[in-house]
Amino acid sequence: MAVALGRTARILVADDDRAFRVSTTALLRQDGHEVLSAADGSETIDTIRRGACDLLLLDLRMPGPDGFSVVELLRREGQRVPILMISGFGTVDRTVQALHLGVDDFLMKPVEPDVLSARVAELLERRPLPRANGLEGPGGLVGRCAAMEAVFEAIRRVAPTDANVLVTGETGTGKELAARAVHELSPRNRGPFVAVNCAALAEGLLESELFGHVRGAFTGAVHDKPGLFEAAGGGTLFLDEIGEVGSALQQRLLRAIQEREVRRVGSVRSTRVDVRLVAATSRDLRKEVSEGRFRDDLFYRLNVFPVSLPALRERQGDIPLLIQTALDRAAFQARRARPLTCSPLAVRLLRGYGWPGNVRQLFAVLESAAIHADGDRIEAQHLSAEVRGDAAGGQTDGPRYRAEAAGEGERAAIVAALESTGGLREKTFQILGMSRTTLWRKMRAYEIDAPIAAKTAAKKTETPRFSGSRMDARGVPPLPGDLQPSA
Ligand SMILES: Nc1ncnc2c1ncn2[C@@H]1O[C@H](COP(=O)(O)OP(=O)(O)OP(=O)(O)O)[C@@H](O)[C@H]1O
Ligand SMILES: [Mg+2]
Repeated sequence: MAVALGRTARILVADDDRAFRVSTTALLRQDGHEVLSAADGSETIDTIRRGACDLLLLDLRMPGPDGFSVVELLRREGQRVPILMISGFGTVDRTVQALHLGVDDFLMKPVEPDVLSARVAELLERRPLPRANGLEGPGGLVGRCAAMEAVFEAIRRVAPTDANVLVTGETGTGKELAARAVHELSPRNRGPFVAVNCAALAEGLLESELFGHVRGAFTGAVHDKPGLFEAAGGGTLFLDEIGEVGSALQQRLLRAIQEREVRRVGSVRSTRVDVRLVAATSRDLRKEVSEGRFRDDLFYRLNVFPVSLPALRERQGDIPLLIQTALDRAAFQARRARPLTCSPLAVRLLRGYGWPGNVRQLFAVLESAAIHADGDRIEAQHLSAEVRGDAAGGQTDGPRYRAEAAGEGERAAIVAALESTGGLREKTFQILGMSRTTLWRKMRAYEIDAPIAAKTAAKKTETPRFSGSRMDARGVPPLPGDLQPSA
């Protein structure tokens, strides 16, 4: 799986038709890929066997072993290169046959350049990444976008110092991971990392947890007990959900930070403490300050060095990488022999969703999907209803249709999409986020046919084409009715 669309690759174009090879090679090179070509079945097999191809564009009818035989042989050998079959002679039956043999996608000539580019990009996205090693930032934080790189840089920079760090970000963005990373990369990493969730305890209890108490300080205080400040001595104290702390405790925290000593509840003696503080909050602490709910002096003490984690919807380019991480983990936990993958439609739905619960939610959705999936591939229907049905993120109609297409209203979604495009095939499958082939297959399965197509086939408008002509070198004319499968 690629980190972003546009990851470049080495692609083998196998077609006996020279003109098709030339035009396709030019297109793929324009997209930044390296292109090899083969003119018959044997050459294709040899090239794949020599290795290092990321994708095979394979013609169905070729001299030597034909496309089907090539696929069969390669798959039998265990070659896992993604295969996009392209044919001028496709029928729905052949498509289904090809998919059964292990072809990943199927396009019929004439192929629109834009469609080809998009399908290639999608298939490349499913390439396995080099294992997460080396791709993870400090503390196991996963991300490659500029915002995450900035976070990694900030963590690496501040960790060796003793400065207090304030980590902010929405729920599930990895604040705790970031806090641990600061500790792990600091000279204190041999000392303890003590985390306390300030929202989980009532104020009085939190106070005695943090500062400790002496025997008899309150009912139930039967022993002297050191607090977490002392427990974290020589290490890092992580104050999670710091925004939830009430004003009395804020005052005590401020004193502890300023004086570097704590006094156990009920005691008159102070103890020196040597801790580095990392605090985290999903609240806008500046706003809390300006509205008088959080002490500004404490805020400044904690916010010596801010680290702000981006929401997942602000770094959608990282989603494929996070999907891969989640799937690797799920496969490992379930002791699966083969890696899990994600269908292009599922990836698209995952990318289009708004992720209010951020990375935590994404991981949970994929963990559950991995359990639902029978095989090694996560399909759209394995995703939770909110991901499939989310209209948000959707300024356009696209995501809504896409999402519905994966759910129970699939037939209705297809009809709605067809109607919205006036039956235009190109637009419809893009809106639905399906391949043209899938759309045809589904239309057949749902018995959606002629009426919608017939209505609009006549007024179809031409879309601009690569090099001014369709990439069909065989001269196969465009299909008559726009929505007619070429069966
Ligand atoms: N960038 C990331 N890379 C890898 N895993 C992540 C990332 N962000 C979050 N996670 C995972 O998501 C889950 C939640 O992360 P974490 O507890 O750090 O979030 P948080 O910001 O502290 O959330 P909350 O505000 O709800 O406490 C964890 O399982 C964590 O491993
Ligand atoms: Mg947290």
